Amino acid sequence: MATNLPANFSLPASAASGALNFDVIIIGAGISGINAAYRLQSQGPSGLKYVILEARDSMGGTWDLFRYPGIRSDSDIFTFGFPWSPWKHPESLAAGDKIKEYLIQSAQSAGIDQHICYHHKVEAANWNSTTQSWALNVKVSGEASPVVFHSRFMLLGTGYYDYDSPLQTTIPGIENFRGKVIHPQFWPEDYDYTGKDVVIIGSGATAITILPSIADRAKRATMLQRSPGYIFSLPSNSFFTRLLFAILPATVAHFFNRLIWLFRSYLTTALCRSCPGLAKMIIKRVTIQQLPPDVKWDPNFKPRYNPWEQRFCACMNGDFFAALRSGKGDVVTGKIKNVTQNSIELESGAALHPDVIVTATGLKLKFGGGIQFALDGQQFDVGEKFAWKAAMLQDVPNLLFMTGYETASWTLGADVSIQLFIRVLRLMEQKKAKVAIPKLSKLDGMEEKPMMNLSSTYVKIAGKVLPKGGTGQWSPKTNYFADIAGAKWGDVTTDLVFL
Ligand SMILES: Cc1cc2nc3c(=O)[nH]c(=O)nc-3n(C[C@H](O)[C@H](O)[C@H](O)COP(=O)(O)OP(=O)(O)OC[C@H]3O[C@@H](n4cnc5c(N)ncnc54)[C@H](O)[C@@H]3O)c2cc1C
Ligand SMILES: *[C@@H]1O[C@H](CO)[C@@H](O)[C@H](O)[C@H]1NC(C)=O
Ligand SMILES: *[C@@H]1O[C@H](CO)[C@@H](O)[C@H](O)[C@H]1NC(C)=O
Ligand SMILES: *[C@@H]1O[C@H](CO)[C@@H](O)[C@H](O)[C@H]1NC(C)=O
Repeated sequence: MATNLPANFSLPASAASGALNFDVIIIGAGISGINAAYRLQSQGPSGLKYVILEARDSMGGTWDLFRYPGIRSDSDIFTFGFPWSPWKHPESLAAGDKIKEYLIQSAQSAGIDQHICYHHKVEAANWNSTTQSWALNVKVSGEASPVVFHSRFMLLGTGYYDYDSPLQTTIPGIENFRGKVIHPQFWPEDYDYTGKDVVIIGSGATAITILPSIADRAKRATMLQRSPGYIFSLPSNSFFTRLLFAILPATVAHFFNRLIWLFRSYLTTALCRSCPGLAKMIIKRVTIQQLPPDVKWDPNFKPRYNPWEQRFCACMNGDFFAALRSGKGDVVTGKIKNVTQNSIELESGAALHPDVIVTATGLKLKFGGGIQFALDGQQFDVGEKFAWKAAMLQDVPNLLFMTGYETASWTLGADVSIQLFIRVLRLMEQKKAKVAIPKLSKLDGMEEKPMMNLSSTYVKIAGKVLPKGGTGQWSPKTNYFADIAGAKWGDVTTDLVFL
C-alpha cells in the first residue's frame, strides 16, 4: 500500500486486499475537520476508527493557503478558536500564521495530527446501499491510479470556496496591463512592494486588511471600489481582555472571553438587523470621526445596503483609517472603464497609474471540495438537495457537512454541525441502526430559504452551489445559541430515517 498513512496506524484486515476501511472519514484538515476529529474522539462512541484526508501538504486550510500581507481573522479568536483549546494571548484578532500555529498545536495536543493523511485529494464518493458504506476515490500524490477508501460515514470539512481558482470577475482590459497583477489567494511569497504604487481592487475584508499592511512600505496604496461596505474598528487588545488574562488562568480567561464575545457579536448583529437606521447612524458618526478631511464619507463610506445585509468588515485598532490619515492610503469609488498598459481609467474620467494591481475581488464558492457525489453509481447535484438541519443532505445516507455563520465565527457553526452528528451517532447506537437518511416528509410546498442570508454578489452566485434551506427541520442556521441548543437537546428524529 503506497499511501502515506501515519506511522502508528493499525490498518483493518481488509487493507491487505487493497481496501481501506474506516468508521468515519473526515475530508479536510482545516478548522472544521480538526474540530470534528476532536468531538469524535472525546464524545463519540468508543473505538471509532477515523481518518482525515487532506489534499494539501499541511493542516490549517484557509490559514495555510492565504499568505497576503496582514492576513488575519476579523472574528475574535475566542469564538473563532476551539472551546477545548484555549487561546493564551490577550490579542483578540489573530494574525494568519498565529492561527495556523494554534491549529497545529491544538491538533497535536489531542493526537489528531496522527490521523491526517496529507496529499490525499478526494475526487469521487459513491454510497453503496448493499454494503451500506461510502467508497471514496482518492488521488494520492505520486500515485498513478486513485486509492479507494471505504467508510460508513463521511464528514465534509471542505470549507466553502475553490482552492484552485478565485472568483472570475471581468475587469475590462486587465490583460493589457504591463505591471504586476496579483490575486490575494496566490500572493507571491516574499513579494517586495517597497516603493510601488499599488491599487487594490475590491472593498471586502481582504482589501481592508491589505491596505494598511502595505501602506508604510509602498509608495501609495489605493483601494478602488465599485461600491462601499461597512468598516468598523475593533480593538485587538482590550483592557478587559488583558485584565482577565492577568488575573485568571489562561483556560478560565479563554472561557470568559468566549462568553463575552459570543454575546457581543450576537447583540451587535441583532441591533443591526432590528434597528438598521440607528446602526447606520452610529457607524456613520464613528467613521467620519476617523476620516482625514480630504476623504469624503459620501460616496466612499456610504453603503447602499443596511448593516449586516452583507458581511461587515472589521479593521484592527482602526488601522485602515490610520493609513488614510497618514496620506499613504487612499480610497477611490468608481467603475472601471478600461485598464491600459499602465493605467486604470474610470468612467468618471479619472485615471490611476499603478505599478501593481491587486484583485481582491472575492472567492469562488464551491461546496464539498469539488467531489463527484453518487448514490449507487447515480451522480447527483448537491445544489438540488435540501439540507436537513443545515448539516445533512436530503436522501443522502451517512453524510455530514460542516458550515459556519456569516454573522459570527465560522467555528461556532461547524461545532453545531458536529455536535448534532454526535447525537445522531449515539441514537443510531441505541437503535442498532447502520444508516441515517434525511427524508423530506412533505414533498411539495416547502418554502425555500437560502443557506446563507447575505446579499453579496458571491453569495448570490452561490445560490446554485450550496444545498437549499427550507422550513422546520430543514431551516438554515439562525444563531449559535438557538442552534447549539437544537443540536444538543432538539428534535433529531423528525424527517430522519434510521435503517
Ligand atoms: C482571507 C479569509 C479570511 C477569513 N476570515 C474569517 C474570520 O475572520 N472569521 C470567520 O469566521 N471566518 C473567516 N473566514 C472563513 C474561513 O474560511 C473559515 O472561518 C474557516 O477557516 C473554514 O474552515 P474549514 O475547515 O471549514 O474550511 P477550510 O479552511 O477551507 O479548509 C478546508 C480543507 O479541506 C481541504 N479539502 C477541500 N476539498 C478537498 C478534497 N476534495 N479532498 C481532500 N481535501 C480537501 C482543503 O485543502 C482544506 O485544507 C475567512 C476566509 C478567508 C479566505
Ligand atoms: C436575512 O436578513 C434580512 C436583512 O438583514 C433580515 O431581515 C431577515 O430576517 C434575515 N432572514 C433570516 C432567515 O435570518
Ligand atoms: C482599452 O485600452 C486599450 C489600450 O490599452 C485600447 O486598445 C482599447 O481600445 C480600450 N478599450 C476601450 C473599450 O476603451
Ligand atoms: C456495491 O457493493 C457490492 C458488494 O461489494 C458490489 O457487488 C456492487 O457492485 C457495488 N455497487 C456499486 C454501485 O459500486
